[in-house]
Amino acid sequence: MKQIAVFASGVGSNAENLIRYFSERPHAGRIGLVVCNRADAGVVERATRLDVPVAIINAADMQDADAVLDLLDRYSIDMIVLAGFLMMVPPFLTRRYEGRMLNIHPSLLPAYGGKGMYGRRVHEAVIAAGETESGITIHTVTDVYDEGKIVFQARVAVTPYDTPATLEEKIRDLERIHFPRVVEEFQC
Ligand code: GRF
Repeated sequence: MKQIAVFASGVGSNAENLIRYFSERPHAGRIGLVVCNRADAGVVERATRLDVPVAIINAADMQDADAVLDLLDRYSIDMIVLAGFLMMVPPFLTRRYEGRMLNIHPSLLPAYGGKGMYGRRVHEAVIAAGETESGITIHTVTDVYDEGKIVFQARVAVTPYDTPATLEEKIRDLERIHFPRVVEEFQC
């Protein structure tokens, strides 16, 4: 059974969705650990409520390769999933989990990716550019922001009536529908 760590910095809706999905399918995998860089992030409370252990690792502690790898080994983590994790993943982690780390990005990469492109800003940029479609990208993680191999994309129409908020809702729906299944099916 695949042991998965979810790294997240924010509200944690994707983390919660993943936890719930795998708790209903214990043969498929298990979210064994949530790693968060902010003690006050919503994801901490959500994971705790669902009985998933949470490790708070700030930017300085994230550089301590021995401590971070020890922690992941203690929980027998086979795979890492980034779900709104806003800190750069250090190279020792991308190396150790090469081909075993996925990220979700709320646009059709390579469009609207890269440094500074996260959350609502992505949807603001998509609308400002007059795009007629957007979507989600799930990709493997390398040392460069939002690069790596694209594993899955799903698309949604952007209408003239969409605002960043309504587009964000549509994107969250896509994430809710597809992300857990793609994580489950990812061979690593
Ligand atoms: C999601 O939109 C995800 O695509 C992006 O960050 C957001 C995280 O939201 N990478 P949440 O914390 O899972 O609610």
